Amino acid sequence: MNLVGKKVLVMGVGLGLGPATSYFLLKSGAEIVIVARNESNLKKVKKELSGYGKIEYIVADLSTISGARKAVDQSLKKLGKIDHLAILVGNYTDTPIKSLSEEKMESMISVNLKAPIYAVKEALPHLKEGSAIVMVSSIEGTYGHGLDEIVYASAKAGLAKATELLAYELLDKSIRVNAVAPKAMRHDFKPGREWKRSRKLGDIECPPEDVARVITWLLDDESEWINGAVIPVDGGARLR
Ligand SMILES: NC(=O)c1ccc[n+]([C@@H]2O[C@H](COP(=O)([O-])OP(=O)(O)OC[C@H]3O[C@@H](n4cnc5c(N)ncnc54)[C@H](OP(=O)(O)O)[C@@H]3O)[C@@H](O)[C@H]2O)c1
Repeated sequence: MNLVGKKVLVMGVGLGLGPATSYFLLKSGAEIVIVARNESNLKKVKKELSGYGKIEYIVADLSTISGARKAVDQSLKKLGKIDHLAILVGNYTDTPIKSLSEEKMESMISVNLKAPIYAVKEALPHLKEGSAIVMVSSIEGTYGHGLDEIVYASAKAGLAKATELLAYELLDKSIRVNAVAPKAMRHDFKPGREWKRSRKLGDIECPPEDVARVITWLLDDESEWINGAVIPVDGGARLR
């Protein structure tokens, strides 16, 4: 994969997929800005990965349009332009229907559905022909169904549909929009490790590198004929 000269905004960088995606983007030659709310974690990720390429961070709450705008505006100051977006923001909590509260409902929809759409809305005026966007849905929202996941899975299903609709809307701008749908990912990322030894096809859980590599590929021109797709990245776990 070759992203030399490309500037990528990575939104929603926590403990697992965010650092792993940032690592592969840097290794592919991209310059990146990472965004989340927890500054000490962002600082840690920047320190851990700065040996692989140019990485900066921005603290922003992506659950509002103004937060997404702050992330985009500050990224433009740091990067000069934005070529691609990796939108990883999301969160999980059980939502059994019996104990569902308005707060849980709002927070799950906000982080898993509204935030990614706000991120696209605010970045779009700065993207150009050839830009690519990748979202993170989940197997639960697309190919499978788990217990007590009614709100999370519905939000991720909504995000999968939003991916398709955005790709349709952006066809004439030649901007691609795709999503990955992981099963369960661990949070144990370490740069440069031999992650493949720790899983086999059909495992429920995978190291974040397996999903991060596909996200990086979806931002690269090598995947240029894939558009509006939600790709299961689960090693076949959904088939069990
Ligand atoms: N782990 C899994 O098993 C799994 C499976 C399927 C799909 N996914 C999806 O994959 C993505 C990454 O998951 P992960 O496991 O790597 O999770 P993670 O470590 O929790 O990373 C997601 C990050 O998003 C950030 N975030 C949440 N709300 C935010 C907000 N309002 N504004 C800005 N940043 C916000 C959080 O960082 P701050 O708290 O610092 O803001 C959080 O650390 C998510 O979309 C998740 O739903 C995960």
